[in-house]
Amino acid sequence: MKSNVLRASIALILLSTALIAHLPSQAPSTPAIADAPYKNTSLGVDQRVADLLHRMTLEEKATMLAGSGWMESAPIPRLGIPAIKMADGPLGVRSWMGSSAITNAANAPKIASTSFPSGVAMAATWNPELVQREGQAIAQETKALGRDMILGPTVNINRVPLWGRNFEGYGEDPYLAARLGVAYIKGVQAEGVIPSVKHFAANNEEFERHRLDEKIDERALHEIYLPAFKAAVQEADVWTVMSAYEKVNGKYCAENDYLLTDILKKEFGFKNFVVSDWASTYSTAPTVNAGMDLEMPGGPPLHAMLKRPQSIMSGNSGGWLEADKVLAEIKAGHISEATLNDNVSRILRVIMLSGLMEHPHTPGGEVDTPERQKIALEGATEGIVLLKNQNALLPLDPAKIHTIAVIGPNALVARTGGGGSSLVRPDHAVSPLEGITKRAGSAIKVTSALGVGMEGEDPAHDTAEARASDLKQATDIASKADVAVVVVGRYNKNESEGFDVKTLDLPAGQDELIQTVEKANPRTIVVLNTGDPVTMSKWLDTTPALLDMWYGGQEGGNALAAILFGDANPSGKLPVSLPKKFEDSPAAKTYPGKDLRTEYSEGIYVGYRYYDSKNVEPQFPFGFGLSYTNFEYSNLKAGPMAASASILAWSFTVDVKNTGKHPGADVVQLYIHDGHSKIDRPIHELKSFNRVELKPGESKTVDFMLDRSAFEYWNPSTKQWTLDPGTFEIQIGASSRDIRLKAPVQITR
Ligand code: BGC
Repeated sequence: MKSNVLRASIALILLSTALIAHLPSQAPSTPAIADAPYKNTSLGVDQRVADLLHRMTLEEKATMLAGSGWMESAPIPRLGIPAIKMADGPLGVRSWMGSSAITNAANAPKIASTSFPSGVAMAATWNPELVQREGQAIAQETKALGRDMILGPTVNINRVPLWGRNFEGYGEDPYLAARLGVAYIKGVQAEGVIPSVKHFAANNEEFERHRLDEKIDERALHEIYLPAFKAAVQEADVWTVMSAYEKVNGKYCAENDYLLTDILKKEFGFKNFVVSDWASTYSTAPTVNAGMDLEMPGGPPLHAMLKRPQSIMSGNSGGWLEADKVLAEIKAGHISEATLNDNVSRILRVIMLSGLMEHPHTPGGEVDTPERQKIALEGATEGIVLLKNQNALLPLDPAKIHTIAVIGPNALVARTGGGGSSLVRPDHAVSPLEGITKRAGSAIKVTSALGVGMEGEDPAHDTAEARASDLKQATDIASKADVAVVVVGRYNKNESEGFDVKTLDLPAGQDELIQTVEKANPRTIVVLNTGDPVTMSKWLDTTPALLDMWYGGQEGGNALAAILFGDANPSGKLPVSLPKKFEDSPAAKTYPGKDLRTEYSEGIYVGYRYYDSKNVEPQFPFGFGLSYTNFEYSNLKAGPMAASASILAWSFTVDVKNTGKHPGADVVQLYIHDGHSKIDRPIHELKSFNRVELKPGESKTVDFMLDRSAFEYWNPSTKQWTLDPGTFEIQIGASSRDIRLKAPVQITR
C-alpha cells in the first residue's frame, strides 16, 4: 500500500516537473493550489523553488528584488511567499523602535533583548563553541521577537585601528575571523533563522563609506579580506551575504560583478542570496547583472530616509531595484529573464531552507532569559584580556581588602557596546561599579567617583571647575582605598558606525585621571572599556595591572568583577595587535585616503603580519593575554598524515601543562612560517588554535590538523592558490611574538 502511494506520488512529481520544464516562463498567475509541489516539504528545495518560480508572474518576480519596508522583503501573498522580517545584529537583537519597526511594531513599547559582548570581545575568547552558542541564543531571541533574519555576523577585518566598527568584528586575522564567523552562522541557522554575513567585501573604515573607493590588490583580497566570507559559504553554507557600502577597485560593492558573481557565486559556489547594505545601490541593470539579489530597505521608509538631509549628505542611495525599474530594464533587454529568475530563486531557496514558508515566526516569545544572560556572561568573562599584572596584584584577595575605589567615566555606567546598528539596548546592564559592589559583599567597602566626565557627553562635567572637582573626588577616594580600579575608554557616541574614532588617544582627561589616581594609590588597576585600541604611553610604565574588557554587553560589570576577584581566571587573548601609536599601524600612511580614494598599499601586511615581519614593536601583540597561572608547552610532534584522493591533512600534537596554582584556560596558537616560497610572505600566519582548560598541575595533549590550504598563498600571476613544496616551519606560540616551539615539516604536494 505504502509503495503504491509512493509510486503514485513519484509519478505526480515527475509529471509536474515535466510540466514545469515546458511552462512558458511568464505563466500568467498560475493558481496557488494547496497541494502544489512547492508546498511539499518532502521534495528537494531546488524542485520546490523551480515549481514556485514558474507559478509567478514577471511582475511578482520583479517585486521580490526590493524590500517592502525598512526591515522586510516583499511578500507575495497570492502564493503564500512571506516577507522576510529582519532585525539588526550581530551583538543581540537590536531592539529599538523605528520606521517599519526594526523589531517591534511601530509605536509599540520598547522591547529589551539580551546585549551580548561586542564581536571583538567574543573574538578575544578564541572560543568557536561559545560563539556558536551565542549565535543560537541570538537566533532564539530573533524568533521570540517575531523576526526571521538577523543581520550578522560582521567579519570585516580590523585593518585600521581607528575604524569606528572594529568592536563589531572578529579582529585582524582572517583565520580567526573565519572560525568565529562560521560558528556564529551555524548557531543561527540551526534555529531556522537567517544570518547575513557582512559586509562583503571590505568595509574597513567608516570615513565616507558611501563614496570611498578602495584599491585592494587581488592577493590581499584573497588572503586577508575574503577568507571569512569564503568559509561562511563553504563551511557554513550561509544563507545570505550582505554587500558593503564602499567601492572596491572602482565599483560599488553592490554592483561589483567581480566580487558578487566571479568570486562569491562562481569561485566560492554561493547558492543563496546577496542583500545590499541599507541604501547602498546606485543603478538598476548593472546592480542586478552584477549579482545583487535583494535591495534593502524599500517602500515608504526608504523614500522618507532618502529625503533626509543627512542621507543626502552621506551619499545614501536606493530604490533602484523597485519593480517598475527592473521591469523597464527587462523590457529594454538590459536584464535578462534568466537573471531575474536566478535572483528570485535564490531568495525563495533561503525562504525554503530556513523553513519560513511553513513556520512564520510570531512575536511574543521570551527574551533576555537566564540561559542567554549566562552565555553573555561567559562571553564577557572569557573575552577579558589581562595585559599586565605586576607583582601579582590580581586577583584581589577579599580577605586582605577592606576598601575598593571604583573610578572613571566608564565605571559608574554600563558601556555595553559601540554605536550604530549593532547597539542593543537591554533591560538592564551591569556597570563595573555594580558588578564589583555585588561581588565585594558587605565585608568590603566600595567607594566610587566619576573622575572625569566622558568627553562630549555631559556639559555639566566639561567645565574647568567641574573637572577639577571630579578629579579631586577621585584622588580622595583612591588615597583612602586598599586598591583603585579605574575604568576608562570610549562609548557609543565617539566609537560608532558612521564615522571613525578621531584619535587613538583616550578621550579628554582620562590619561590624567589614570596618572593622578596612580599617584594617590600605587595599587591601581586600569581597565580599558572600548573596542578600538588606545595609546597608553602616558601611564603604562607605572600602571601595575591592566585589563581590556572591550565592550562586554549587559554582563560586562559582572564579568569584570569575576576576573578581579579571581572567580574566573583570565583567558582572553588579543584578536588584534595593540599598536603603541596610530602612526605605527600598517594602514596609517593611506588612511583615510585622498579625494575619496584609498589604497590598501600594505597589501597582505595587516596586523601582526606587518608588525612581526617588519619588526615594528606593538604595545601588545596579537594573541597575547596573561593568566593567573602559567602554561608550559612541550613535545611538539608531527602526527600521522591523513591522505585521501581529495584531502591531505597533517596533524601535530603539543603537550600543555598548567604549572601554576590556579585552574585556567589557555589558547595554544599554531603559526606557519614559509621560508622558501617564491613570493614574499609574512614571517608567519595563524593557521590553527586550540583552547584548553587545565587544573593546576594537569597536562593535556592538544591536536592540530592542517590541510594543504594552510600552506598556500594566493598567486597573483596565476590567480590561483599555490603551494611551493619544501620545508615549512610549524610554530607553537602563546602570542604571535611568543613562539615557544618550532618544528620543520616537509610539504611536497
Ligand atoms: C549597516 C549594516 C546594518 C544596516 C541595517 C547599515 O548602516 O552598515 O550593518 O545591518 O545598516 O541597519
